[in-house]
Amino acid sequence: MTTILGIETSCDETSAAVVVDGTHVRSNIVASQVDLHAKYGGVVPEIASRAHIERLDSVIEEAMAVARVTADGIDAIAVTNRPGLVGALVIGVTAAKTLSWAWGKPLIGVDHIRAHAYSPAIGLATPPWPAIALVVSGGHTSLFLVREPTSIEVLGATIDDAAGEAFDKVATILGLGYPGGPLVEKLARDGDPTAVDFPRTMLDPQSLDFSFSGVKTAVLYHVHGHGRTSGGLEKLSAKQLADIAASFQQSIIDVLLRKTMLAVSGTGVGTVVLGGGVAANKTLRGALERECQSRNLTFHAAPMSYCTDNAAMIAALGYHQFMRGDLAGLDLDAYASAHERHGIAPATPVVHDGTA
Ligand code: KG4
Ligand code: ZN
Repeated sequence: MTTILGIETSCDETSAAVVVDGTHVRSNIVASQVDLHAKYGGVVPEIASRAHIERLDSVIEEAMAVARVTADGIDAIAVTNRPGLVGALVIGVTAAKTLSWAWGKPLIGVDHIRAHAYSPAIGLATPPWPAIALVVSGGHTSLFLVREPTSIEVLGATIDDAAGEAFDKVATILGLGYPGGPLVEKLARDGDPTAVDFPRTMLDPQSLDFSFSGVKTAVLYHVHGHGRTSGGLEKLSAKQLADIAASFQQSIIDVLLRKTMLAVSGTGVGTVVLGGGVAANKTLRGALERECQSRNLTFHAAPMSYCTDNAAMIAALGYHQFMRGDLAGLDLDAYASAHERHGIAPATPVVHDGTA
């Protein structure tokens, strides 16, 4: 039995978790900062860092207490060290290094997006690999071929706005507030997904990369009039707003489905898994599940509590890195960017410009 303490501070959730053997979650404490950032309409990096500093100690203590484990019972400490807001990541990385040194336990640096790709496997009796993993989060939309937890190949990635970012920006355009994804989903329930024909940007027909900035701009001009960025919202009825939300959501889902199926046919893999904050969207989960059923593919969505940011997925993927001896030293650094395409980590740290 191998017990990992996971720590996650890459964006606006302060989280710690205790996970056994990469699948049994003994505790997963998440302190959300949504209330702190809501009035600014998005995450303010300095506020996020400060809140992580204030909350992380007690979040870790709670995770250990709920799991009924002391330092002696922890085999290693896994921490998100990329990608994310560097000032936020550094808080978690520093805490993890300190505990690693004080307790004499190994340290593991975990890629947040790859942990999202792994998250659908948490709690499954049989590992789902190999699988095509669709990760839809606030900062990234990625397709991976996960051969096994420590062998993950990037097939496609965001070239501009990620899916979650598009949901958040469309929520702002529609005057809904922050964070936008759940609010757009709620409004879309009363709308007709075929009412407005928003663009489905596929890029090259065989491309597995994603671009959602075009659909966001299409929503903006649909609301205000072509080339205009204000003045139109007040003129829309509740029904029209719901139709826009539903049609926008459908256009995102259509692109995600088509590209995921392209990845399936290109690799011949028979299992699809779904993770990341946008994976909490029930319409997306249902649509991908139906598509997989119709093609006789196995499908697993991450459990709802492991879709948005959490440390359970960090501890879970960290377990597999630990078993392979993929350990970090006390010089572990934090990076704004994800691993480079096709699984090659950049040789030098990326400029710490605070963008995720
Ligand atoms: O994975 P996550 O918690 O953070 C990042 O790693 O970025 O994803 C957050 C994103 C936000 O953009 C949020 O609006 C979106 O996930 N999201 C949703 C839903 N719940 C969260 N998007 C659509 N529908 C939802 N129900
Ligand atoms: Zn995330």
